[in-house]
Amino acid sequence: MNITYYGHSCFAVEIGNKTLLFDPFISGNPLAAAIDPQSLKADYILVSHGHGDHLADAAAIAKRTGATIIASYEIAQWLGRQGAPKNHGINHGGGGQFDFGRVKFVNAIHSSSLPDGSYGGNPGGFVVESGAGNFYYSGDTALTYDMKLVGESVRLTFAVLCIGGNYTMDVDDAIRAAKFVACNDIVGVHYDSFPPIVIDHGKAMEKFRAAGLRLHLLKIGASHKF
Ligand code: NI
Ligand code: MN
Repeated sequence: MNITYYGHSCFAVEIGNKTLLFDPFISGNPLAAAIDPQSLKADYILVSHGHGDHLADAAAIAKRTGATIIASYEIAQWLGRQGAPKNHGINHGGGGQFDFGRVKFVNAIHSSSLPDGSYGGNPGGFVVESGAGNFYYSGDTALTYDMKLVGESVRLTFAVLCIGGNYTMDVDDAIRAAKFVACNDIVGVHYDSFPPIVIDHGKAMEKFRAAGLRLHLLKIGASHKF
């Protein structure tokens, strides 16, 4: 599986010839100014919750690519009203079977109002299982014991965890989350984009290393193969 980082919590994972794009927020992110959201490929767009810093570019990319939105029922319906042509709504504990594999929607502790104030359902994370391997994306969340269910159920190749603090887990909580989901390769997201979530990269790398984990802080636009 190849992962490419587009800044904040936006990344794409290629599984076979399918591209899964997560939480597209590019045009509003000055750090991602070099990325043109309308150049991104997507067969599926997975949205963890309703906040603008996770779905600002979702409808436009879905319209252009014809990608299927995978999100909570409420967000899938809302993005449909914004013009996303194909939507697959899911909810916690459930999930869907797709041509690349299976997606399960799992708990996150956060909030999920949509940009116009609409109700976005509850926020979540995703567990993706495929023939090429499995991974977990936490979405925006606090550390929660529910993450242990992921570690007990699925052997993960990598996990994408929020690490910036203030609105979500910080580095120390993300290290505990990595232990809960039983995964040593962590891709950090949700840091540096806004003043309250700026982190010290060197310190974060060192803390993960000291815990026996590998933290990957990908440059915006860079890819890593797992
Ligand atoms: Ni959020
Ligand atoms: Mn966020």
